Order: sequence, then structure tokens, then C-alpha cells
Amino acid sequence: MRTAASPAPESVLVVDDEPALRALLAFVVQRTGAVPVVAADAASARQLAARHTFACALIDKNMPGESGLEFLKWLRTEQPGCNAVIVTAYGNVDSAVEALRLGAFDYLLKPFEVDALEHRLKLALEQYRMRQEREHMQAMLVQSDRLASLGLLAAGVVHEVNTPLAYILSNLDWLDEELPSLRRSVAPQEALTLGKRLEAVETTLRDIREGAERVRDIARDVKAFARDSDDGSILVDLREVLDAALKMALVHIRYRARVVRDYQEVPLVLANEPRLAQVFLNLVVNAAQAIPEDGGEHEIRVRLWTGPKGEACAEVSDTGMGIAPEHMAHLFEPFFTTKPRGEGTGLGLFICKSIVEAFDGAITVSSLRGEGTSFRLTLPPHVRESAAPAAASLEAVAIAAS
Ligand SMILES: Nc1ncnc2c1ncn2[C@@H]1O[C@H](COP(=O)(O)OP(=O)(O)OP(=O)(O)O)[C@@H](O)[C@H]1O
Ligand SMILES: [Mg+2]
Repeated sequence: MRTAASPAPESVLVVDDEPALRALLAFVVQRTGAVPVVAADAASARQLAARHTFACALIDKNMPGESGLEFLKWLRTEQPGCNAVIVTAYGNVDSAVEALRLGAFDYLLKPFEVDALEHRLKLALEQYRMRQEREHMQAMLVQSDRLASLGLLAAGVVHEVNTPLAYILSNLDWLDEELPSLRRSVAPQEALTLGKRLEAVETTLRDIREGAERVRDIARDVKAFARDSDDGSILVDLREVLDAALKMALVHIRYRARVVRDYQEVPLVLANEPRLAQVFLNLVVNAAQAIPEDGGEHEIRVRLWTGPKGEACAEVSDTGMGIAPEHMAHLFEPFFTTKPRGEGTGLGLFICKSIVEAFDGAITVSSLRGEGTSFRLTLPPHVRESAAPAAASLEAVAIAAS
């Protein structure tokens, strides 16, 4: 089954030695939409809590062996974020005070109404979610600070790179003009030897120009991002943007996979072209990086089509290693990376999401470990008509051979 990035339901630990009550408590947990994880005593509950994180716990106060309150004390140090509700038949004010003093979120007397327990558990879950949300917001604030500094840094680096780059490109222009006249001035008796050497020089210069122009394009994209402007929105044909991104990613794809383009009719979208190109470039580079360089038959497939509501849809899929289910929820977070230090910043997908959402679009992912990954993008159409009346095309291009 494919895993999709949606928030997983919270788990609630149920600890009770009475089988019937355990089943009832588990039933109430299910009614709140959470997942019950049951234990018949504190010892097995400890083992479970060592492996899983729980949003809440329903703990019987009186159990043979370690008591519910002792277990509560341990749980508070192990999982301080877990909201514990103590359930007991032997309740009195003192034991309630003791439970609350030990950090219980709530205290409930048996026999209890199922509705009452459900209500209390919902409150405990709600408080857990609010605390999670607050912690997430705080982390985002710290990250947005880091991103702002990164933006400044990127703008500075681009500025520094652009000056020598302009010098390199203008010198290449001069060489382009100079070489033909040099070739013409070669004496006929040297034409064979010198002519061949000049040809090799010209080929090398073409490669240098290609590299320098790629650096210039990357610098322009980084500058557009660092400036964080969404000016320059125009009607964009996604086919052109995808083709441009594939061209830029060629060096990453070349020895890993063949590219299959499946372009159906797709509406034009109102967006900033370089920024959309950056989205596709990040997705294609990620796809290539997920494919091992083992000479296997791998594929990166790019698709474009019109969605059921007329929206523009795009997909980049690969036959790479796939994504671990526990990573799915974190992919779009800034600085989340599984790549070795120095190889990935973990900003690629975060940037993709920010750009797509700035154009009122959405991005989703599905993946199967060992089989591959698909990133899907939807963008609102600018016009209902298709970009061009071209027939649907399915074209396989062996990039390595091109
Ligand atoms: N196509 C894919 N297949 C498998 N894993 C992927 C794929 N795309 C993204 N990932 C996972 O998502 C993580 C985050 O991706 P993201 O593009 O944000 O950062 P990165 O690629 O690690 O770093 P950077 O983009 O800065 O080079 C990656 O480290 C990788 O674990
Ligand atoms: Mg990336």
C-alpha cells in the first residue's frame, strides 16, 4: 500500500488489569478517533511506552504489582507530553490530589459514564494537540529566522558569483569572435594538424560556455528566491517549464535513469516562470538522487494533464528507493533531509511547497519503499482552454543518448 503524508491519529495507552474494563476503555478511545494500545499491567505498559509516543494514557490506579500511580510517576519523566487520566474504583479526595500532584491530567471514578470518559479524554487529546501545535509554531519561528538569514546569505553569494561570471562570459564571447579569424589565418600546410587542435579548443570552449550559462541560470533562480518577490507572474505553459527543468537537471539524470514525458493537454497557469522551474528542478533532482547509479533500468516519468475541475496537474515520479513511512510527515519541513551532511540542505521541498502555495496550488506525495515516489502538483487554471490544441503525446527520451 502506498503511504501518503497525512497526520497520523494519536495513540492512547490503556493500562488496566481487568479484561472487560480494558476493552471498554479501548472502545472509548476509538470513539474519540484515537488509536488504543492496551496493556494488562504496568510492566508491559513500560515496554510499550519505551517504543511508542502516546498522546494520552488511561491508567487504572489499583493493579497487582506496580500501582497506577507509580507507573504515572515513571511515565511523567519518560513522556512528559503524555496526558494521563487516572481511573479508579477506590477514589477519595486524597488519592485524587496525589494523582494530580504527580502530574495526572485528570482523575475519574468507577463506575463512570462512557460519555463522561469520552468527554474527558477528548479534552486531554485537545490539550495535547494544542501543546504540539505551539511547539511546532515555536520551531517554525526559529526556522524562519534561519531562512531569513539564509536568504540574505544566498543574495550575497549570488552577487559575488555574478561578477566573475560576467567576466567569464564576456571573455568567451571574445574567444568566439577571435577563433574563426585565427582558423582562417592558418597556413594551408598546417591546416590538418592545427585545424584539428583548433577544433578541440572550440569544443572545449562550448562546454565551458554551457557550464557558465548553467551557473548564470542557477544564480538568477537563487536571486529570485532570495528576493522573495512574486512579481513577474505571466501565463505559463507547464510543458516549457518542465522541459527547461529537465534540461537543467540533465547532469544529475544522465547515468541514472531515462526520462519519460507524458504530456496531455494542460491549461496555462498564472505564475512566475523561473520559480515554477525551480519547483520542477528540485523535484527532478530529488528523483534522480533517489535512484542508485547501479546501471539498473530506472525511470523518471513526468506527466501533465487537466484535472477533473479543469486544474493544471503535474507529476514527477521515479523508480527510486522510495520514502520511509516515518519520514512522510516531515518532507516539506525546512531543513528536513536524509542526505549526508554537506549533500542536502533539506530546503528543496520546503521551497517547492512555498512557491506552489504562493500560486494557490497544492503539492502532495505518495511513495512505496523500494519501488518509487511520486510528487503531484495542482495549480489553478488561468483559462479553461488548453495551452495548445496539441494531441496527447507519450514520448520516451533516453536522455543518456541525447
Ligand atoms: N523522490 C524522492 N525519493 C525518495 N526520497 C525523497 C524524494 N524526494 C525527497 N525525498 C526525501 O525528502 C528529503 C527532503 O527533500 P528536500 O528536497 O527538501 O531536501 P534534500 O534533497 O535532502 O536537500 P536539498 O534539496 O537541499 O539538496 C530528502 O532528504 C529525501 O529523504
Ligand atoms: Mg532536494
